[in-house]
Amino acid sequence: MRIAIVIMAAGKGTRLKSKRAKVLHQIGGKPLLEHVISAARQIVPPQDIFVIVGHQAGAVQAEMAHTGVNFVLQSEQRGTGHAILCARQAVHGYEHILVLSGDVPLLEAQTIAQLRDFHIAEHAAMTILTAVPENPFGYGRILRKSANSPEVAAIVEQKALTSAQEKIGEINSGIYAFSTKPLFEHIQELSTNNAHGEYYLTDMARILVEEGERVIALQAPSATQVLGANTLAELASLDAEIRLATARRLMASGVTIYRPETTVLDADVEVAPDTIIEPFVQLLGHTRIGEGCRIRSYSVIENSTLENHVLVRQGCVILDSHVRAGALIGPYAHLRPGSEIGEEAHIGNFVETKKVRLGKGSKANHLTYLGDAEIGSGVNIGAGTITCNYDGTSKHRTLIEDGVFVGSDSTLVAPIVIGRGAYIAAASCITEDVPEDALALGRARQTTKPGWVSAHRGTRQPAKDAVKGS
Ligand code: UD1
Ligand code: CA
Repeated sequence: MRIAIVIMAAGKGTRLKSKRAKVLHQIGGKPLLEHVISAARQIVPPQDIFVIVGHQAGAVQAEMAHTGVNFVLQSEQRGTGHAILCARQAVHGYEHILVLSGDVPLLEAQTIAQLRDFHIAEHAAMTILTAVPENPFGYGRILRKSANSPEVAAIVEQKALTSAQEKIGEINSGIYAFSTKPLFEHIQELSTNNAHGEYYLTDMARILVEEGERVIALQAPSATQVLGANTLAELASLDAEIRLATARRLMASGVTIYRPETTVLDADVEVAPDTIIEPFVQLLGHTRIGEGCRIRSYSVIENSTLENHVLVRQGCVILDSHVRAGALIGPYAHLRPGSEIGEEAHIGNFVETKKVRLGKGSKANHLTYLGDAEIGSGVNIGAGTITCNYDGTSKHRTLIEDGVFVGSDSTLVAPIVIGRGAYIAAASCITEDVPEDALALGRARQTTKPGWVSAHRGTRQPAKDAVKGS
């Protein structure tokens, strides 16, 4: 049996009051539409998925191109019924279509499968996925033929509800299964005779019933799964919901999260057991964290991998980086893209790294910038060390071999090589390569003038206000 999935994603999302297309707004770190496509791909291969695009079609297609789905253009957004009409050519060879909404992102694949199976087993022309949420306001309501019957008479949109119908708790999720033959035989009967002057797909329920076709409803396993996002407030609560679900998934697998409601976890984040995540941590993008790690408060880690037993102290920013086992980061460290921190290495407070490889057990504990550098193992980088990697036009590399000691407040002017085991005296400005095992000093000699202070006393007046203070 050939089944296609059609995802409606052409609408502007007027109620968001945003320039950006609604389906590109994110929850859990991913566009709404991407969540829906991911669920759909668990049911059918991407070549059987058709996304209807319209508002900002180019941007939506570009952002979703990696999913391999098809796109159908609805150049004018004349309603959900019109959206499906636009897909007619694309899906005419399929016996059934499952229709999803690009703005109903929490739907699980298992529920889509249940809808498909129920629709086919019941030989229905249209099967509507419904729910009974706490607050049904704003949704279309389901008019069943009778209370205990799966059969539906019609769907009534919020604005058309009579006061008696307003009490109906069962809502239309905007997710349906259709048998393509009766759907496309009668879709032309839709009219724009309604509050928005649009072709409502929901009207197909009444039309098909009038044609003697079977229209039925299936209640979703939870109302949360079919919540839609029409306003930024609704988007925020779906975002909280999906992040909490991620936290629950991690906790169930052995991760300790002290205050899950304060953490910001993107949907694809993975964390191994026995890791502790403190309050107000953000783990974003494709971040992977090993076991036995501790991520202390206010750290933000994005698209990075941390191996086992890493300690990230408070307030660190780690982006597109890799931290090996047992390393110690922060507090207040900034690992910029391309930082590879070696096993048991230390990156301390106010240290910034970028495109750096730091070897096993090497340490940069305080106030340092390391950029475009290859640093061996067992290296000690003193406080305030700077790799001067930029000459105003291009970037240059610094190579520091194993066992080097760099004294505090040194500037290493790249390109430069510091040979194995060399020793850089504190406060040096190093502009020439230093050979293995050498001591390099690059600073002015100190001049000391004994008795200079008392000889000058009385000749220099303190500024008038200096001692008055307050
Ligand atoms: C729709 C249903 C409503 C249901 C609710 C569930 C209709 C008329 N109403 O209302 O019964 O309770 O979903 O969330 O269908 N879209 C297009 N092209 C268009 C118009 C919309 O592709 O011309 C897309 C939108 O991008 C969106 C989806 O269809 O992803 C639903 O449209 P929306 O305007 O959000 O419908 P609701 O008012 O939420
Ligand atoms: Ca909607």
